[in-house]
Amino acid sequence: MDHPAPGNEQIILVSNRGPVTYGTDDQGEQIVIPGGGGLVTALSGLVDLTPVVWVSAAISDEDVRLQRNAGDATIVLPGVGVRTAGRFVIIEPEIYDPYYNVIANPMLWFIQHYLWNLSRAPEIRRNELDAWEFGYLEANRRFAEVVSQELAHRPDATVMLHDYHLYTAPADIRDAHPDAFLHFFIHIPWSQPDYWRAVPNHIREAVLQGLLANDIVAFHTARYARNFLLCCEDLLGLRVDYEQRQVQWQGREVWVRSYPISVNAPAFEAIAMSPEVLEEEGPILRRRRAHLIVRVDRADLSKNAIRGFLAFDTFLDDHPDFAEEITFFALIQPSRQDVPEYVEYLDAIRDVVSRINTKHGNTDWMPIDLRVESNLARAVAAYKHYDVLIVNAIYDGMNLVAKEGPLLNERDGVMILSENTGAHEELGSFALSVNPFDIENQAEAIYQALTMPADERRERLDHIKRIVRENDIEKWLNAQQADIAAKRNGDPQTAGHG
Ligand code: G6P
Repeated sequence: MDHPAPGNEQIILVSNRGPVTYGTDDQGEQIVIPGGGGLVTALSGLVDLTPVVWVSAAISDEDVRLQRNAGDATIVLPGVGVRTAGRFVIIEPEIYDPYYNVIANPMLWFIQHYLWNLSRAPEIRRNELDAWEFGYLEANRRFAEVVSQELAHRPDATVMLHDYHLYTAPADIRDAHPDAFLHFFIHIPWSQPDYWRAVPNHIREAVLQGLLANDIVAFHTARYARNFLLCCEDLLGLRVDYEQRQVQWQGREVWVRSYPISVNAPAFEAIAMSPEVLEEEGPILRRRRAHLIVRVDRADLSKNAIRGFLAFDTFLDDHPDFAEEITFFALIQPSRQDVPEYVEYLDAIRDVVSRINTKHGNTDWMPIDLRVESNLARAVAAYKHYDVLIVNAIYDGMNLVAKEGPLLNERDGVMILSENTGAHEELGSFALSVNPFDIENQAEAIYQALTMPADERRERLDHIKRIVRENDIEKWLNAQQADIAAKRNGDPQTAGHG
């Protein structure tokens, strides 16, 4: 194992989940497992361009063992970017579990996606308060400690932190390194101030104050950036400049910006032509009826799969002539099965699908083909052949399915897109916008998509493809780098979107 001397990496990336985790095979040989998820994929665009130190939680026993052997040094992560040095943050299970499974998912995730039914939840009890104090705050302190050690080697580096696991770490880093440049990207929605009042005062204040320890706080959309500014005003009583999108905090100016993330279009187009995907297309094409509806999601409560199926049920009630002519292919990837609400949700998805299939289907025709699995090749094959793509999330930071699907679609398919996804800010005018709570509205949108004239379908899809290709991941990174440079130079001109 290579333990390099501190290099000249000028970026310290920080995220709970890292780009790789280590394991051992049956023979006890070390293996490297790529980290999953959209966040890691997005950041790979950055590490392909520049050397970084990537600080992430040790997930496996092997990660812990390697980091213990390395002490406070970095570990070269094989196959990650041009040169990525990793630091695993060692967090004992009795801290990690409450940090991740009580506070990050679900508390913060639920607050930020408006998922609590406030008449019943949350119930803030000793368990939650302790999870905050001894889990979340402590895990964040561990991250801050490791980042501070790395900053000591490279004080001019930019620290780029990502996501809701790490809200309080910046305040601890700022205490140790008052002059460090700290940048924080939040990939999920930011909810409005009154919803944040569902968590105790000391928790929401620590979240906001932790974030205000950064130089720049970034979101995917202007709407979530604005919600954050509203929280600073309402919950902390700060003076906020909405036009300049900045807040003063402890004598520093904090910029709040938005940069819509995209997908790596050439990489996805290459995957679409891979043998695995071509093989998956066969069964989809053989089984498809005249019309194919597709959805691809994690089994997350925020994705709104159930209302999507209920809308399809209503559509079949309203338009019986489509019976046997249409299939709804739903690829749902299991997620966060350590959180009870997610287990219940997946069960509820299965129940609703089976009810609709029993109600409308017959021995020859199953209206909804539900696959609970994680299968990228199959998802990409489905993207290529849908006539209608349903993305009806309750709230979503961006939603990359809304970009991947149209980019790869070959049938002039129409996208039904929730007005509460980040993607809607860029793509809403070329999709059929829906209110994710309005089942009638979504049922009508299915009908409208299926009966839309061919030239209108093509035109809408072409626009979406163009936007996805133009606003690529490099543009996303460059806009952030431009603002970082501008803020470092004290230049008021910024590249970030409204
Ligand atoms: C989703 C969110 C990301 C988040 C990730 C965490 O993909 O969109 O913003 O970082 O979940 O997933 P994990 O599996 O690491 O808990």
